[in-house]
Amino acid sequence: MTLRHAQSDRTDFPAGKVWLVGAGPGDPELLTRKAERLIAGASVIFHDALVGPEVLALASAAVRLVYVGKRSGRHSKDQKSFDRLIAAAALAGDRVVRLKGGDPAIFGRAIEELEACRAAGVPVAICPGITAASAAAASLGASLTLRGLARKLVFVTAHARAGETLDLDWQALADPTATLAVYMGKAAAEEVACQLLAAGLAPETPVALVENASLPTERHFRSGLDLLAIAAKTALGEGPALLLIGAAMADAGENYVAARNSIASPFMQ
Ligand SMILES: C[S@@+](CC[C@H](N)C(=O)[O-])C[C@H]1O[C@@H](n2cnc3c(N)ncnc32)[C@H](O)[C@@H]1O
Repeated sequence: MTLRHAQSDRTDFPAGKVWLVGAGPGDPELLTRKAERLIAGASVIFHDALVGPEVLALASAAVRLVYVGKRSGRHSKDQKSFDRLIAAAALAGDRVVRLKGGDPAIFGRAIEELEACRAAGVPVAICPGITAASAAAASLGASLTLRGLARKLVFVTAHARAGETLDLDWQALADPTATLAVYMGKAAAEEVACQLLAAGLAPETPVALVENASLPTERHFRSGLDLLAIAAKTALGEGPALLLIGAAMADAGENYVAARNSIASPFMQ
């Protein structure tokens, strides 16, 4: 450990502080060194379903682990009381880590937790993490941008509140020079495909679906935009999945050609 690290150990994680820590996409080796140190130094860790046991195993034996994922019965309407719980732990003198899958600042509701801490006078900071789109592209051996072809990278969520339709600017998203990284897009894959096609994106626009990126259970599929809905419905399982759409996902190789030629079994791993 360097002198700089030894000093920051003592100074950047005093009792009573909250760190919102990016746990990365799942593979513990994709944690930052800083995240690993903060996890090891925490006295209480609030985590959700996207954070796996191997990451939690890096915590000290004395740590208190608090599961706050949706499966714990928490709904988004409970977010406020949950935010207060984090601040309360810090006010009680804990060193608090709020572990979030990927990067806390990308579709991670980090701002609510930051504001709750600030309102309570609790010092709070963010440790960034590798977001799912980066891990998914790496697994595919693809680049999210391509010189001259994909000049823009758009992170978009396809999560809509119950009973609501997706309120997205489809014309702007249907940009053939962009790569779309669609988070929480599994359930809405059909609507995403239909809207993008209606807004003028070509049916043969390459699409990649990556489930459980970076984990041993990872699976990926390639298709065209016209087959995205059926691909998401038939190929994906229960794990978190990302849809990557755009020319940068083109695979000139056999997988993509085979996918387009076979509707019955359109997806090649
Ligand atoms: C609430 S968002 C959180 C995103 C996270 N903050 C990040 O930066 O990756 C959850 C969505 O992220 C995507 N996701 C997270 N981990 C993933 C993984 N290992 N593989 C594929 N997609 C993942 C899925 O679309 C999932 O529905």
